[in-house]
Amino acid sequence: MSENLATVAYIGATILFILSLGGLSNAETSRRGNFYGMLGMTIAVVATMLGPRVTALGLPWIIGSLAVGGAVGIYAARKVQMTQMPELVALMHSLVGLAACLVGFASYVDTSIVYTGAEKTIHEVEIYIGILIGAVTFSGSIIAFGKLSGKIGGKPLLLPARHWLNLLGLLAVIWFGAEFVAAHDVDAGMLALAIMTIIALLFGIHMVMAIGGADMPVVVSMLNSYSGWAAAATGFMLANDLLIVTGALVGSSGAILSYIMCRAMNRNFISVIAGGFGTGGGSTPVAAAGEQPAGEVVAVSAAETAELLRTAKNVIIVPGYGMAVAQAQHTVYEITKLLREQGVNVRFGIHPVAGRMPGHMNVLLAEAKVPYDIVLEMDEINDDFPDTDVSMVIGANDIVNPAAEDDPNSPIAGMPVLQVWRSKTSIVMKRSMASGYAGVDNPLFFRENNRMLFGDAKKMLDEVLVALKV
Ligand code: TAP
Repeated sequence: MSENLATVAYIGATILFILSLGGLSNAETSRRGNFYGMLGMTIAVVATMLGPRVTALGLPWIIGSLAVGGAVGIYAARKVQMTQMPELVALMHSLVGLAACLVGFASYVDTSIVYTGAEKTIHEVEIYIGILIGAVTFSGSIIAFGKLSGKIGGKPLLLPARHWLNLLGLLAVIWFGAEFVAAHDVDAGMLALAIMTIIALLFGIHMVMAIGGADMPVVVSMLNSYSGWAAAATGFMLANDLLIVTGALVGSSGAILSYIMCRAMNRNFISVIAGGFGTGGGSTPVAAAGEQPAGEVVAVSAAETAELLRTAKNVIIVPGYGMAVAQAQHTVYEITKLLREQGVNVRFGIHPVAGRMPGHMNVLLAEAKVPYDIVLEMDEINDDFPDTDVSMVIGANDIVNPAAEDDPNSPIAGMPVLQVWRSKTSIVMKRSMASGYAGVDNPLFFRENNRMLFGDAKKMLDEVLVALKV
C-alpha cells in the first residue's frame, strides 16, 4: 500500500472514530457508534499492516501479537461480569500506559533512525513526556483496578506533606528531563529516563491511593483521559498521525467526562486529583463526621410493595449498583410493563454516578429493552418527586442519601442526589442496612415515609411481579 493510500485510509478511520464518539453520546445511536468505531479500527490496523512502514519481516510479529491480544481481549470480554466492567476498563487503561512506556524505551534505544539537532531534541522530549504520561497511567490504573475490585481498601491514603512530595517529584522530573535531553550517549540518557520512570510510577500510585472511595468515578474517567494522552504521545514517538489523533480524541473526551463527573458530584477537579476527598469504600461503613442516623425502620413485604405500586398513579424507579449485582433489570422491566398497562405512569431516574461506571444503569436498562423516553436524567426528574406516589429504589444507596444535602460534615456533602424522600412513599430494596460504596450511613432508611424491602433485588422483584399478577 502506498504512503498516499495509507494516509487516505487513516483519514477515513479518523472520521469514523469521530462519528463513533458522536454516536456513543446517545443511547439510541450507541450501537451505530460502536459499529463505526469497530470499522475505523479495522481500517486503521489493516492500513498500518499493509502500509509502507511495515516490512515483510515485521508482519508475522504483528499478526502474532494481534492473535494473542485479540484472544485475551475476547476471553476477557466474554468472561467479565457487568459489575466488573470498571475494573476491566481500568486494567485496559494500564495496558495503554505500559505500551507508551515500552514504545518510549524502544524508540530511545532504536538506532535505525538517526536524529540530529533540533529534531533530536524534539524526539527526546516526545520520548520523555510519553514515558512520563505512560508510567503515571500504568501505575495509577493498576491501583484503580485494585480499589474498584476491592483488593485495595477505598480509604484515601493521606501521607503527611503529600502536596510537597508531589511538588518535589515534579521538580525532580523536570531536572532529570533536562539531564536526559543534554545527555551525550544513550547510557547517560537511560539513567535519567529510568529514574524519571520510577518517580512517575510512584506518583501514579500516590495520586490514586490518595483519592477516596466516593471520588472513584472521577478517577476512572481521568485515567481514561490519561490513557488517551499516553496513546497520543506514542503516536508522536512513532510519527503516526492516526495514533496522535485517536489519542487526542480519547484524551479530550475523557477530560470532558471527568468534568461532567465532577459537576455531577459537585467536586472541584483539582481537589479530587490533589486527593483526600471522599472517605471509605467497599462495604465497610466508616463513621461519618456527622450524626449517626437513628429511628425506626419500617420493613414491608413484596405483597405490600405490589399493593403500593398498584394503587399509585406516578411511580419513579431509581436503580443503583445493587440492581446490576442482582441482574434484576429484566424483572424491573416486566413490572414496569405491567404497571404501565394498568395506567400507572412509570419512569426511571438515573443518577450520573449510579452503579460503578458512567452510563452503567442506562446500559442495563437498554439491555432489558426499557424504552428510552421513560429513562430520565437526575436533573430532568428531581423536581417531580413531590408529585410522585411511590419511588422505588432498587439496590441504590449513596445516590439517594439525604445526608449529601443535610449534613455538611458528610463525606458526600454537596453531591446532588435523587430526592426520593420527597415522594409520598419511598421503598428501598436492598439486602441489609449496610452502607453503599462511599461507606456513609443513609438517614433515608429511617424517614417516616420510607419503607424497606429487604432481600436480593432480583428475588424480591420476582415476588413483587407475582403479587402484581394476582
Ligand atoms: P451504592 O451506594 O454502592 O449502593 C448499592 C447498594 O446496593 C448497597 O448499599 C447494597 O446494600 C445494595 N445491594 C448490593 N447487592 C444487592 C443485591 N443483590 N440486591 C439488592 N441490593 C443490593 O450504589 P449507588 O447508589 O448506585 O451509588 C454509586 C456509588 O458508587 C457512588 O458512591 C459512586 O460515587 C460510586 N462509584 C460510581 C462510579 C460510576 S462512574 N458510576 C464509579 C466508581 C464508584 P446491601 O448490601 O444492604 O444489599
